[in-house]
Amino acid sequence: AFNLRNRNFLKLLDFSPKEISYLIDLAGDLKRAKYAGCEQPRLAGKNIALIFEKASTRTRCAFEVAAFDQGARVTYLGPSGSQIGQKESMKDTARVLGRMYDGIEYRGFGQAIVEELGEYAGVPVWNGLTDEFHPTQILADFLTMLEHGNGKQLNQMSFAYLGDARNNMGNSLMVGAAKMGMDIRLVAPKTYWPETELVEQCKAIAETTGAKITLTEDVASGVKGCDFLYTDVWVSMGEPAEAWDERIAIMTPYQINSDMLVLTGNPDIKFMHCLPAFHDDETVVGKQVANKYGMNGLEVTDEVFESHHSIVFDEAENRMHTIKAIMVATLGS
Ligand code: CP
Ligand code: NVA
Repeated sequence: AFNLRNRNFLKLLDFSPKEISYLIDLAGDLKRAKYAGCEQPRLAGKNIALIFEKASTRTRCAFEVAAFDQGARVTYLGPSGSQIGQKESMKDTARVLGRMYDGIEYRGFGQAIVEELGEYAGVPVWNGLTDEFHPTQILADFLTMLEHGNGKQLNQMSFAYLGDARNNMGNSLMVGAAKMGMDIRLVAPKTYWPETELVEQCKAIAETTGAKITLTEDVASGVKGCDFLYTDVWVSMGEPAEAWDERIAIMTPYQINSDMLVLTGNPDIKFMHCLPAFHDDETVVGKQVANKYGMNGLEVTDEVFESHHSIVFDEAENRMHTIKAIMVATLGS
């Protein structure tokens, strides 16, 4: 087995394909054990800090439930109420929390912040999303693909990611696909392709793993023959609301709708989304945007989201099993 004890989990670039596979397999084992009612608590007596400088439903709940299932306790530090981001540097926060906690999750802004936390905490630090990367999400996505992949291994799968390919999801999916030898198509306006430096880094990894990385503005060729279609919100947390004007104008052709499902040529095409999604006008932002632009459903239509092609809630559940695997692997007995 692999020894990931005391490692940070900050970005997939830090992990080998075998280590990533090991975490996904461990998540599958933990999921089966929970379903069978025979889960062994391997985090008994551990104290875990959860720092959230941005909002969260899935990631926070996944960390909390995973910790409780495994016998650990958590402290939630929200966007306000602590000294973080106000009066105390991350370097000092890291050294304080590292004296009290056995592991620390961080969701926030720049990747450099979580890297600094990881450098100074002296205990495992896990990235629960930064502007640049969302690595725990990718483990859940790949576990879900394996569960819905009709027996295919990751390196036999192809998927298209549509919309904002320059955000944390586009970046992380590209790194994950490169590491695991997958065929990924980033289908997005050129101005929303990932940074050239990261693309080059991933293409170099792809040479060693057999991955295929395609960046294209052409939807028809981008989605053709793939196993999964994946998208994310067009405006991410931390970005100004004004961004919607430009994003709607440029990203509407990349909306996942019924016509696009047909374009894949795959009757068994699966739809994925890290969530939260704007597929109807039932949210505050969704309503504002829908009223202003006359749209119902932005990055994905409600029809696709609610169809039998959609595996988004299996994907959401898998956040918990994969986050549990990360904590058990880096901190468990
Ligand atoms: N997918 C995801 O990270 O969701 P939350 O923002 O709800 O944690
Ligand atoms: N790109 C999105 C992902 C949310 C899980 C954001 O950063 O808001």
